[in-house]
Amino acid sequence: MDKFVIEGGAPLVGEIETSGAKNAALPALAACLLTEDTVTLHRIPRVKDITTMTSLLRSIGAAVDADGGTVRVEARHVEKPEAPYELVKTMRASSLVLGPLAARFGRARVSIPGGCAIGARPINLHINGLEQLGAQVTQTHGYIEAVAPPEGLRGSVVTFDRITVTGTEDLMMAAVRAKGETILENAAREPEVQDLADLLIKMGAKVEGGGTSTIRIEGVPSLHGAEHAIIPDRIEAGTFLIAGAITGGNLLVTACEPEHLNALVAKLRQCGVTVEQEGPGALRVRRTGTLRAVDMITEEHPGFPTDLQAQFLALMTQADGISIITETIFENRFMHASELMRMGANIRIEGRQAIVAGPRELSGAQVMSSDLRASASLVVAALVARGETVIDRVYHIDRGYEAIEAKLVKAGARIRRV
Ligand code: EPZ
Repeated sequence: MDKFVIEGGAPLVGEIETSGAKNAALPALAACLLTEDTVTLHRIPRVKDITTMTSLLRSIGAAVDADGGTVRVEARHVEKPEAPYELVKTMRASSLVLGPLAARFGRARVSIPGGCAIGARPINLHINGLEQLGAQVTQTHGYIEAVAPPEGLRGSVVTFDRITVTGTEDLMMAAVRAKGETILENAAREPEVQDLADLLIKMGAKVEGGGTSTIRIEGVPSLHGAEHAIIPDRIEAGTFLIAGAITGGNLLVTACEPEHLNALVAKLRQCGVTVEQEGPGALRVRRTGTLRAVDMITEEHPGFPTDLQAQFLALMTQADGISIITETIFENRFMHASELMRMGANIRIEGRQAIVAGPRELSGAQVMSSDLRASASLVVAALVARGETVIDRVYHIDRGYEAIEAKLVKAGARIRRV
């Protein structure tokens, strides 16, 4: 089991290039099931979750050819419209194949994704939506089975009880081949949802309002192949901006989409961090003076992303004052706090809030990753901690960050994988 060994204290300088967004690539790969033609996707990050999704597509029967950051999928011959337990248990986002399989093959059988470290993470809203489109959904032996009527799914108005990113994406993919019009209300507005809409439109789907809270879809009988470049990973880029700030560095994050990072950039500026756009797709972060503590509340996009909460909390351990961080999306997303406290941070958890008192010097320690973004938070903290930090179970971070240690070393960090 790999570990990271990090010697803190080096300010990040130079440039770090952002990869494609894992959370845009996953629905895009699932969308390939909607056509028998070849779909070519560029800027696919080489991370574990993508490997899991391509394995899932192959187990369903699709031909998948990965060449560097380009993945070609041809789902012409599909034998098994199923997502088996062995794969789903390693990646909950496997539920993204529910919609496309039900839409194209009339049947989908997906292992019910368990919870994970950050919460129970049910998919009841995905199921309710599919039933609204006419599917019969049963749950037996740990599997969900969705069966469309003989004439196929039919359009409907689906109003989500609460905003769900992959729920919105799943239903978009179910609706694009349903008969008639589907309206998704209270839809997620994340850039990854908009990127999926852009891909579906290239494949011949009729989708309006992707990226807004109301998405209107006119079903079409079939979709065709397409070529599409995935959007940059705003969470990876945001993680590096925070790392540049916490180390007092001067770092240019390139190949990102600055407008996807407005909420984080606004917060960093409130803390006294300098963030400037430098040409298209590049943000420079510099911290010279003291870091001011600010409160932060996670919200669905365009609010502050929950996937950057752990990293921002690490930054607030170095800020001057008290920061109250409220996590509104997931019920248990402060697993990183206990590990940060072992490094010397002053944090108190009260329900959905973390109260951080700073600045507190962090000292290197042996710490344990619990989930993808918590491990990113530990890397950020280790970069500023005095002495050496050993982070265990870095397979969590490998799920969503492409070659993170190589990117950090290039910017002057003292990090190695052992
Ligand atoms: C997506 O997860 C992301 N994953 C998550 O990123 C991200 O944290 C999350 O959206 C919120 O932005 C992918 O896109 C692959 P939700 P998702 O459905 O879609 C509840 C990462 O680190 N809910 O928007 O699973 C749910 O429990 C990952 O890259 C239901 O109750 O999240 C949560 O409290 C972690 N019923 C809230 O809604 C449902 O049917 C938002 O979840 C669905 C969700």
